[in-house]
Amino acid sequence: MTKPYVFITRKLPEDVVAPLLAIAEVEMWPHEDMAVPRDVLVEKAKRATAILPMVSDPIDEDVLSAGSALRVVANMGVGYDNIDVAAATHRGILVCNTPDVLTDTTADLTFALLLATARRLVEAAMFLKEGKWKSWSPFLLAGADVHHKTIGIVGMGNIGQAVAKRAKGFDMNILYYNRSRRPEAEEKLGAVYRPFADLLAESDFVVCLTPLTSETRHLFNREAFRQMKKSAIFINAARGAVADEQALYEALVGGEIAAAGLDVFEHEPVAADHPLVSLPNVVALPHIGSATYETRRAMMTLARDNIIAVLEGRPPLTPVNRIS
Ligand code: DGY
Repeated sequence: MTKPYVFITRKLPEDVVAPLLAIAEVEMWPHEDMAVPRDVLVEKAKRATAILPMVSDPIDEDVLSAGSALRVVANMGVGYDNIDVAAATHRGILVCNTPDVLTDTTADLTFALLLATARRLVEAAMFLKEGKWKSWSPFLLAGADVHHKTIGIVGMGNIGQAVAKRAKGFDMNILYYNRSRRPEAEEKLGAVYRPFADLLAESDFVVCLTPLTSETRHLFNREAFRQMKKSAIFINAARGAVADEQALYEALVGGEIAAAGLDVFEHEPVAADHPLVSLPNVVALPHIGSATYETRRAMMTLARDNIIAVLEGRPPLTPVNRIS
């Protein structure tokens, strides 16, 4: 009997892939740091029973309709806005993601980005490396305090709550906005629910951790930045398109907000001359929220195990959709 064909869109370590080889023919895009071209992905989908894509690979109607034998798309990432889940469900294709295994790692990065932006760490390190340090002076590279300030978390899922836990350690006042109230976060972390506009107006740090959906696209628009304090710092570790980048740029240049820390952009990857990256009051990172060796291995392992489960006729471990 021929083995099912699995296509993995990036080169993953051999030991991670090994358990799949017993039950499937596996092909990997051979490059670690170059995305698979769209036409190649569509071509591979034609033969595939399973695809393991990265969060940067669009799995849209073209890919899904090419995959006449496709049974599962197991994303390596908790976010799955790169996948047309409605189209997959319609075609009876399971979609899986990698929740939980990256929660603390992503929360660590989010908080690190908040600290780096508030305390101007990147700028300060460059200042020293470039030989500009001539004397100690009272306001040299002075930033904003983090402790005892108000953090407003937009998107109080697992990562949002893990960020709130870190904020509690910094004696911060924690506000949150979410589609539904989170009584467990209110009880355990002392987080206080606020309507979106109130959170924007009251927070010193506005932290975006909400998934990208049709409802959250450009949630942070001109009006939202206008509602923030002039001293506010905006942190985005979710998806770039949750913020309107032009509106964010204007808010930063026009002094409507003080600074931003961005791990994500609307169209990734971005170049060094991207308007937001060039601003002195922006700390910009190349989407590294979950990028530790331990966590990336855990994510690829979970994605792999989702595929193994489906190929062996078991329910996937972390499905996003249901096929009836
Ligand atoms: C995710 O898992 O969605 C992250 O953005 C990838 O690091």
